[in-house]
Amino acid sequence: MKAVTWQGKRDVRVESVPDPKIQEPTDAVIRITSSGLCGSDLHLYEVLTPFMTPGDILGHEPMGIVEEVGAGVPDLKAGDRVVVPFQIACGSCWMCENSLPTQCETTQVTGEGMGAALFGYTRLYGSVPGAQAEYLRVPQAQFGPIKVPEGPPDDRFVYLSDVLPTAWQAVAYADVPEGGSVAVLGLGPIGDMACRVAQLRGAGTVFGVDLVTERLRRARQRGVEVFDLRDFDGEKELVTAIRDRTAGRGPDAVIDAVGTEAHGSAAARLAQNAAALLPRKLSGPFAERFSVDRLAALYTAIDLVRRGGTISLSGVYGGMADPLPLLTLFDKQIQLRMGQANVRRWVDEILPHLTDEDVLGVEDFATHRVPLDEAPHAYEMFQRKQDGAVKVLMKP
Ligand SMILES: NC(=O)c1ccc[n+]([C@@H]2O[C@H](COP(=O)([O-])OP(=O)(O)OC[C@H]3O[C@@H](n4cnc5c(N)ncnc54)[C@H](O)[C@@H]3O)[C@@H](O)[C@H]2O)c1
Ligand SMILES: [Zn+2]
Ligand SMILES: [Zn+2]
Repeated sequence: MKAVTWQGKRDVRVESVPDPKIQEPTDAVIRITSSGLCGSDLHLYEVLTPFMTPGDILGHEPMGIVEEVGAGVPDLKAGDRVVVPFQIACGSCWMCENSLPTQCETTQVTGEGMGAALFGYTRLYGSVPGAQAEYLRVPQAQFGPIKVPEGPPDDRFVYLSDVLPTAWQAVAYADVPEGGSVAVLGLGPIGDMACRVAQLRGAGTVFGVDLVTERLRRARQRGVEVFDLRDFDGEKELVTAIRDRTAGRGPDAVIDAVGTEAHGSAAARLAQNAAALLPRKLSGPFAERFSVDRLAALYTAIDLVRRGGTISLSGVYGGMADPLPLLTLFDKQIQLRMGQANVRRWVDEILPHLTDEDVLGVEDFATHRVPLDEAPHAYEMFQRKQDGAVKVLMKP
């Protein structure tokens, strides 16, 4: 089959690889019909290079049709239409029973000290072959795949794999009071969807911050009060402008949907690039001990949120030596919640909103739909934010 493989920093290629097969009774194999490109893939494309191995198959946002199931997957059969969550979880361990499938004790990558295995996401998360491919082996298929009805287009459901539960969890963790205010930093797919979910779940005012014109426009069109980072002379000015809209206090909650590659962190950018350039044998251990994130968005969140408010991080961070202003965090009495989205925990709440009315606007959420062969171009376009790219779906 054809698959999108990682070959090196900013180097992905479509290659022929062996078709996946059932290996365990709890496996399924699906034929992929849509597969998303995510901001998380961009981290692999460039800064998480030390944790990648050439040939790794990328991708973690798939849906498709079940081809084959193992004997231990009673509820799925060939021909079923399914969306596959980005994390692999068993559904029956203590963590899964407590709605934390990202921490599944059956699939935890204990050798690396990490949580549940993820599709297509470095050796830290189990080196599981990813979903930007024609076929995917789905381990723990007795729990993961979400059956969806025939009829509506893939775009109606595909974001259940990641974007929707991630945005939903970001808003749930932000704990916005009914009618209260929330600022969303970053208006990529996750931040954009988090704004929509915040509106749906009763936030009174939603502020959005980014520095890409069409991303700001998309959010503004849906009633978000947007702030263009480029209009401000530094983070302080931005914070003051948003505070002015909240009686001088700052919003009740701030969602960081930017993560480790934030614009405006020059020193950390140099450190990330240096780590990515080290020879492979050195760069892994170096990154594990000394890595730092580009923290501009998180610093903004800490400054911006009102005293006693909540910061919800959905942007991915990976540093082990990040300097944080604990004095401010402590003194402002900030609550901080974060983590990979626990996909299955939120699916039953989200599904009733995926109707013909399309309140979340999922059916025209994608800006680009491309064949698998165009993946190298799609990665480059999405990273550089060219051609209005916000969400790219690959159609194998
Ligand atoms: N927690 C999870 O389960 C989960 C799931 C999916 C994605 N993510 C993470 O969420 C983050 C966003 O993902 P995405 O797909 O939307 O990616 P993206 O890269 O398209 O979005 C990031 C956006 O942040 C903007 N930005 C950069 N610096 C900024 C700053 N200082 N202030 C405000 N905005 C800034 C960029 O212009 C961009 O639009 C990534 O870190 C991704 O890894 C987490
Ligand atoms: Zn994703
Ligand atoms: Zn489990």
